[in-house]
Amino acid sequence: MELKFQENFLWGAATSGPQTEGRFKKQHDNVFDYDFDHYQERFWGGIGPDTASNFFNDFREDIKLMKAAGLKSIRTSIQWSRLIDDLEKNTVNEKAVDFYNAVINEFIAQGIRPMINLNHFDLPVELLKTYGGWESPHVVDLYAGFAAKCFAEFSDRVSDWFTFNEPMVVVECAYLLGFHYPDIVDGKKAVQVAYHLQLASSLAIEQYRKINKNPEGRIGIILNLTPSYPAAEKIEDLKAAEMADLWQNRLFLDASIKGEFPEELVSLLQEENVLWQSEAEDLKRIKENKVDLLGVNYYHPSRVQEPEYSSDSLAQDWRPDKYYASFNKRGVRMNADRGWEIHPQTIYEIAKRIQEDYGNISWFISENGMGVENEEHFKDEEGQIQDDYRIIFTTEHLFWLHKAIQEGSNCFGYHVWTPIDCWSWRNSYKNRYGLISLNIHTQVKTLKKSAYWYKNLTDSSLLQV
Ligand code: BG6
Repeated sequence: MELKFQENFLWGAATSGPQTEGRFKKQHDNVFDYDFDHYQERFWGGIGPDTASNFFNDFREDIKLMKAAGLKSIRTSIQWSRLIDDLEKNTVNEKAVDFYNAVINEFIAQGIRPMINLNHFDLPVELLKTYGGWESPHVVDLYAGFAAKCFAEFSDRVSDWFTFNEPMVVVECAYLLGFHYPDIVDGKKAVQVAYHLQLASSLAIEQYRKINKNPEGRIGIILNLTPSYPAAEKIEDLKAAEMADLWQNRLFLDASIKGEFPEELVSLLQEENVLWQSEAEDLKRIKENKVDLLGVNYYHPSRVQEPEYSSDSLAQDWRPDKYYASFNKRGVRMNADRGWEIHPQTIYEIAKRIQEDYGNISWFISENGMGVENEEHFKDEEGQIQDDYRIIFTTEHLFWLHKAIQEGSNCFGYHVWTPIDCWSWRNSYKNRYGLISLNIHTQVKTLKKSAYWYKNLTDSSLLQV
């Protein structure tokens, strides 16, 4: 069977500055640079952000490879820690401006539409040390200033902007689960950080509307959506699933698209005495600065049930997961390397949900992909990685996305994670996601089988299933 996507469907791939550029000539360290310098052992293979695909130096060659892999658009990010010289005075570094200008111009010259994100977890570490990072309203203001500089420098050529990638990952990994520096486990702080990230996003949008130079321009946010399925059809588990959804998905979805946090969540946080500190004026700015578009990163759903422990045991130590417990369902398909369930149909359910609950917001799949260990084992005699598993994974997700679009979903595109194997936070190079493989010792980059497959798909917009 052959499925046809609309002619102007936006095909592409996503990556980020901190995961690809390398630390060359940066003005500041971000939290991951600092974490690696102090706690190398936390990183897979002891490999840190210095070991990148060297996009900073090799971007012209990399962009040629991306073109060969069929990309018509790309999302990457501008690093605050590279662009800004003086973080307080918000002065730009001219060499960094030249670098990002050259990158944007090269993408355009190669016929790849650049979509720019302003934050991919990469807070300059001084702002954490001095102010407590996203716990501080001052950092929110500094971020809005940085965003303003980006719009002033680059919005004449870039028409798609994003304020954040996966703010919930910052909240959860850095303030609840101990996966990202500063590894704080504190529910109340997590709630405040969530609020500040939303406010920062809205203030960046406010700046954008004043500064944008591009009549076609639009701005949005990228959210990781993890639909929650209850363990059993019983009221306790259904409630647990609702709570997980409220916290993990609706917090940023509602605030970004509708301009208001979900009432149920606000009341609950109020009852628990952990509601964020907010100013009426700021809530008004959140209301007034909604997104124009939404990026959805989808990898896997979550399976939840009623927590076994009583809520009393956590009364002193509020955590959102006191309302739900995650579990691994037996018998489901797993990507065992990454430990994530594979459930392509969820992408259809996300599309339906957006259509039903968020009207006609323009949206796209901004990340979807399969991370695999030891891919060199799949090399053929010519040295090409035969990643059929990735082709199957992508085909299945696109099948369900196509079905949703046929049924009226306002989805305009699809981005795979990621063009070239890249460094990842603490997992480093454990799981490779690229259409193009990277040898981190020699810097040799080679198209995988999936890259040729993706080019056929993106040239024709025809999916063979
Ligand atoms: C997304 C992030 O959550 O998942 C990426 O936006 C990340 O930055 C990707 O690399 C894959 O996750 P991981 O942890 O396997 O690298």
